[in-house]
Amino acid sequence: MPLRYSSNFDTAGLDAREWDVIIIGSGIAGLYTAVNLDSGLSVCVLSKETMDENNSYLAQGGIAAAIGQDDLPAYHYEDTIRAGAGHCNAEAVSVLVNEAPADIDALCRLGTNFDRNPDGTLTTTREGGHRRFRIVHALGDATGREVVDSLLKACRKKPNIEIIENCFALDILTHNGKCVGVLACANSNAAVLETQVVFYGKSIVCASGGIGQVYKHTTNSEVVTGDGIAMAYRAGAVLSDMEFVQFHPTAFYKAHSEGSSFLISEAVRGEGGILKNNKGERFMPGYHEMGEIAPRDIVSRAIFSEMRKTGSPCVYLDVTHREGGYLRKRFPTIYERCLLEGIDITKDYIPVCPVQHYFMGGLKTDLYGRTNVAGLYACGEAANTGVHGANRLASNSLLEGLVFGRRCAEAIMEETARGDLDKPVIVSSEKKKGLITDVSQVREVLRQEMNDHAGIERNGLEMAEALARIEKIVEKLEKTALGSVAAIETLNMAVIASLILQSAIQREKSSGSHFRTDSQ
Ligand code: SIN
Repeated sequence: MPLRYSSNFDTAGLDAREWDVIIIGSGIAGLYTAVNLDSGLSVCVLSKETMDENNSYLAQGGIAAAIGQDDLPAYHYEDTIRAGAGHCNAEAVSVLVNEAPADIDALCRLGTNFDRNPDGTLTTTREGGHRRFRIVHALGDATGREVVDSLLKACRKKPNIEIIENCFALDILTHNGKCVGVLACANSNAAVLETQVVFYGKSIVCASGGIGQVYKHTTNSEVVTGDGIAMAYRAGAVLSDMEFVQFHPTAFYKAHSEGSSFLISEAVRGEGGILKNNKGERFMPGYHEMGEIAPRDIVSRAIFSEMRKTGSPCVYLDVTHREGGYLRKRFPTIYERCLLEGIDITKDYIPVCPVQHYFMGGLKTDLYGRTNVAGLYACGEAANTGVHGANRLASNSLLEGLVFGRRCAEAIMEETARGDLDKPVIVSSEKKKGLITDVSQVREVLRQEMNDHAGIERNGLEMAEALARIEKIVEKLEKTALGSVAAIETLNMAVIASLILQSAIQREKSSGSHFRTDSQ
């Protein structure tokens, strides 16, 4: 049994506020849920840091939707199911692909400025695993930024929505088996855990994103530490598919760097980029008939295998055959960022390697984002709707956030947000030994363990040994008073790491992103 609450508190002594709906997370899924809620409901969106610090904001590639003349939702469905390696929930995929075009239209009406062709139609590109051009994008390669900014503007026009930045959600409060609110720390940047507050709500939406920082190398933002998934787990929510962690094939490789890596969008390969090993040889056609745009798990493993064969820490992405002006316009963010690292993508090969990118697992939901805990909904990367299976198809993540965020809003309007607000006094008073605030070393150990034993290739024996070590970390953190936001994040990370390992050990056969060297 997990610890019920990560800190001790008594809500009777805390400042309290109340809303109809509380949304934890300010990425695309959270903001789109908020704008789709009736204006008569009071809504609060909690952002752990500032609004531009989340994975949605960093998303480059785009949003998949069958909007082209030669495309159909049925083709998008086939590609999603194929990439998911037999693990997708077919009904959820059907909802996703059929409702995608309407949500793209809705975004356009809200003011999202997608890139367009001279005739005014939306420009589409292709990425790994897609057999059609169906990915809409914005600002060339800054789709997430444009969508978040436009949703934020839409939220700010609605007086019923309040956005609170720099507010760290510590735990989801439950009473008599129902979700009643969120315990939060009002200043997420404070060095010590201070100013606990209680936010009561009739419906709570967990849209807190993924788990990237559990790994040593990730494309994810620094704030993505799996908090929402861990606190919902403590509140009794069922998790699923925890073993399925996606590695993006092409993060910018920089020697001796750790933490967040800069992404080189799959769209670069979609627009003709070629992968070469350190001898300058193209290798992808030898691994898959779709070459560079094979599904992501296959490209990541192929790169990993080339790196091992050649003893090199990276491979190279060559897009120099495309015209310079075109590249600068189509990929302005990547062009500028690579230049800062001394690489001119119009002339030089880009050094790349696979790093953690996306989490397919998470809070198990139905087709309207409902979890098993009454009043608790989930959407976006924190949720496991079943659309991604064992390997997410490129550019289906922002889409999932939109489709299922809107569906969460629909369910909330029908259900919990109309009931009475329950404001029970809740007390947590676990016996703790000592106080811990600086967790930097524990975090390092954890991230190294996951890097070494729960990465692109896994084996049962090593995972079992790593799990035993991580369980000791969890136990220690659970028994100690956690005196900083970083310490609570680290508990969340350790819990998520142990759950990933437990699931990965149980799944003995390889599937999609979960590749076991000790059993095929
Ligand atoms: C990318 O631009 O390669 C990322 C898109 C995604 O993760 O779906």
